[in-house]
Amino acid sequence: MLTLERANELLATTTTEPHLILHAKNVMYAMGGLAKHFGEDENHWKAIGYLHDYDYQQHPEEHLDHTAGPLKEAGLTDEEIRAILSHGYTLRNDVEPHTNMEKSLFTVDELTGIIQAAARMRPLGITDMEISSFMKKFKDKKFAAKCNREVIKKGCEMLGMEVKEVAAICIEAMKEHYAELEIGPKA
Ligand SMILES: [Fe+2]
Repeated sequence: MLTLERANELLATTTTEPHLILHAKNVMYAMGGLAKHFGEDENHWKAIGYLHDYDYQQHPEEHLDHTAGPLKEAGLTDEEIRAILSHGYTLRNDVEPHTNMEKSLFTVDELTGIIQAAARMRPLGITDMEISSFMKKFKDKKFAAKCNREVIKKGCEMLGMEVKEVAAICIEAMKEHYAELEIGPKA
């Protein structure tokens, strides 16, 4: 089973850009929060979250086309590779999310981007961010416009949850790591 330590080692072989590593960490902690919600293995979900954009820095135009081969060789299971591939459903491939882990990853990839952007606007960062204020940003399509609301809504629908419910879980999980995620109070 993919461990956090191994995910770290593997991502380090392909990814050096700080903003990509920060994104990987955002997704990692959000996945940890959702794993806890579903009563699943937090460290395993975090490891998958951390590694999900394995080939992005090297192949932004062919994202996820350079993932299955190397990760299979690195010892990931078919289920783990499928979970990573499925976050590109409709965007990069036709691997439809089936499990809660896959649906969660598909959702939080975009959702954490809006959470990060919203937290960065606030003097105290994520530390005092309420779900209601986040939802205002979510509904404002011009805010963090690159983060695809339709994907997030579709992911939540797959999970059978409301956006605000999933977002609240992610915010709580990310809050615990505000310093590492650089979304704490402004100095
Ligand atoms: Fe991502």
